[in-house]
Amino acid sequence: MKEIKLETAIRVYTKEELTQQQVELMNEAISAAKDAYAPYSKFYVGAAVRLENGVVVKGSNQENAAYPSGLCAERVALFYAGAIYPDVPVKAIAVTALVGGKQVGLAAPCGGCRQVLLESEMRAGANLEILLCGAEEIYVMDGASSLLPISFDASVLPD
Ligand code: THU
Repeated sequence: MKEIKLETAIRVYTKEELTQQQVELMNEAISAAKDAYAPYSKFYVGAAVRLENGVVVKGSNQENAAYPSGLCAERVALFYAGAIYPDVPVKAIAVTALVGGKQVGLAAPCGGCRQVLLESEMRAGANLEILLCGAEEIYVMDGASSLLPISFDASVLPD
């Protein structure tokens, strides 16, 4: 038997410590969250994706009375970016969530969204900067593997 210990590097910032570009992306995520369609959970999630060409694409969770038919904000934003700008790499994503109009402590992406973040990196050929924007603190990561260690990827699939 051997034991493997995994380490995750997360830098925790206050809003005042962010760069202007990071603040802009966070504000776009907040604005996206306000447009969420979340009549069932009342949990309003927003994601903003910055592309290499400077364009920022926003997405929010889109719910459905048939619950599994809805989609998370991160995936709405990343799939939209991939559909509209298929050849432009994604550089960064900011995520936040509002309840009662106020940002929650931390917007942690669900497992499915972590997998999609990983695929976006593979597609872009480089890591994404990930900003998880809470009310007081912003968790900043340099890649999706910080959120999803021992991940499934295409390398195990047959040719
Ligand atoms: N949600 C997201 O948009 N992103 C996540 O990563 C976690 C959950 C949404 C899905 C659903 O509309 C609501 O939050 C409650 O689960």
